[in-house]
Amino acid sequence: MALFVLSAPALAQRLHVNGLIGEPPDTSTWPHPAAPDANPYVRSTALPADIAQRDRVAQLGKTLFWDEQVSIDNTMACGTCHSPAAGGTDNRPGAVHSNGNFGTFGVIPQADTGTIDYGFTAPPSTQIDRSVTPVNAPTMIGAYLFDQLFWDLRAGPTFVDELGFVIPNFTDWAALEDLAVGPPINGVEMGHQNMLWSSGVLQNKLNTSYPLSMVDPTTIPPDITWITSSGAMYARIFDFVFFSDPQFGGLQGVTRERFAMALAHYHRTLIPDAAPIDRGTMTPNQKRGFNLMKTRGNCFACHSATGNPTLAPLGTVDPFDNLFSDGRQHFINLPGQPPRKTPTLRNLGLHQKFFSTGHGSDGFVNIFVTNFTQLIDFYNNQPPGLGFTPPLNATEKLQLQDFLQNALTDPRVAAQTAPFDRPQLYSETQVFEGNEYGLGTAGVSGAIPEILANSPPHVLQPGASDWFKVGVGNAAPNATSMVMFGAAPAGGPTIWVTSLFATIVAPNTNAQGIGTLQQPVALTTAMIGVPFFCQWFVDDAGTASFSDAARITPF
Ligand code: HEC
Ligand code: HEC
Repeated sequence: MALFVLSAPALAQRLHVNGLIGEPPDTSTWPHPAAPDANPYVRSTALPADIAQRDRVAQLGKTLFWDEQVSIDNTMACGTCHSPAAGGTDNRPGAVHSNGNFGTFGVIPQADTGTIDYGFTAPPSTQIDRSVTPVNAPTMIGAYLFDQLFWDLRAGPTFVDELGFVIPNFTDWAALEDLAVGPPINGVEMGHQNMLWSSGVLQNKLNTSYPLSMVDPTTIPPDITWITSSGAMYARIFDFVFFSDPQFGGLQGVTRERFAMALAHYHRTLIPDAAPIDRGTMTPNQKRGFNLMKTRGNCFACHSATGNPTLAPLGTVDPFDNLFSDGRQHFINLPGQPPRKTPTLRNLGLHQKFFSTGHGSDGFVNIFVTNFTQLIDFYNNQPPGLGFTPPLNATEKLQLQDFLQNALTDPRVAAQTAPFDRPQLYSETQVFEGNEYGLGTAGVSGAIPEILANSPPHVLQPGASDWFKVGVGNAAPNATSMVMFGAAPAGGPTIWVTSLFATIVAPNTNAQGIGTLQQPVALTTAMIGVPFFCQWFVDDAGTASFSDAARITPF
């Protein structure tokens, strides 16, 4: 794999140098939407129309990044896993992958059932809970400075089409475009098994969706309300934004390439350059921490673009070291881990988890790093070249901690203010499985069915009934089943819904005992805010087994 080396002039071109000393971000070197490689534009000399165009592309990307409708079942936005409040990483606890790493929660596994909707399904092993990514999520804030992305650098530097061919004009510095098209179709993160862009499923879904229609409109950032208040679905917004693009113009609605450019451009606006180290407001202790990394550790050999960051007289960091990463892969002594990309250290103080393994403050046992003290001890115990020589004493450790935890934190990221502002996600207002109640009861096989009811009943979503579904897992395999719908909850211990208004026969459960009811529950505006209740009945070899129940509140 080619590892890129940042030459200082090339880097300077990318670094928005003027934005690093506390001025508003200078976006003069934003790549042109269709040509990340050869950006000839300098913002001050660009035509106002070009600047406005770039801003619109980025604003569309911001809208998409925070829209849960980008996922197949309306449960996951990009931002679900990348929260500015956690420095651009995932702050939801408890996601443990079978490889032992702390990853991020994605969708409950979905399969292409060949119908308009997608059934819940088990991957090779039976799984009725959310999928978990095999690695921790790195931040998207500052990701625009990497020519290759992901822990193993597999995204970029080119943007390739679905067949693997490089798309013209995306021959370098296009890692963000390359990456952005992955999560929406990924069966763990936001898509379903074997999903391809070429199926057109996502394009069709978004074309007929109103941007951000699932979030509380009062939480939508002001720079994107022109999109959300336009009354237009994504198809028209995409055409409006990209109509005159030389490469991807015209009336095409949502396309893979347009989606990629929008997301990538949004990321290029996420410039975390107002931390104390940029503003010259580091405390003496923080400066000592910086110097310890430079003089007693070899830290900046990897956590620096040039290997030699300096603090300018004002106390600002050398702009060439904006990233605090060399963008390359290294082995560090993490138990059993392959080489990983050096992550940026910016906004580290906001992270809930550390390293690609996600070892962090989850409160789990068997983890070697749970907080900054342990993180610093980890490096303090490394051999020369990776750790500190001689090792830091207690005072010095606190100085290092102060630097890492506070001096690199952009207060706008911490407070989620522009450009790091964002809407509140639907999934943040409704705790996962928080709408479930009661207990399931086993039939003769002993399996206790469990309801899957996390697909949001979203009335304003065009065709919402098509996307609303309930599932069952852990049921008897290949069994007849049905779903009872009632207007009120019941007290159990077996039947949890009453005032029944419908009982609908579902397709048989599959070989893993998982079933999905895709029969539309015809959602109407009169149903908004009025909860209804449902529960599965599964015929377990002639005996009755019941699932727990769910409260569904259309919105
Ligand atoms: C289910 C959680 C999840 C969702 C949803 C998600 N990501 Fe990520 N993201 C991750 C994980 C995990 C990684 C690291 C994967 C790896 O390195 O193999 C990652 C990596 C990244 C990176 C690379 C950062 C770096 O420095 O290498 C960027 C940028 C990014 N995601 C942007 C996005 C965008 C854009 C979307 C939506 C289209 C998105 N993510 C959706 C979990 C998620
Ligand atoms: C040989 C290159 C190298 C050197 C030298 C190095 N690091 Fe790292 N650092 C890495 C890599 C690679 C990772 C990511 C490893 C992983 O997560 O799997 C990392 C991760 C980190 C993290 C966690 C970041 C996060 O987002 O979770 C911190 C903090 C850190 N390093 C600080 C230091 C300090 C302090 C020093 C000096 C004592 C240092 N590093 C020296 C390569 C290096």
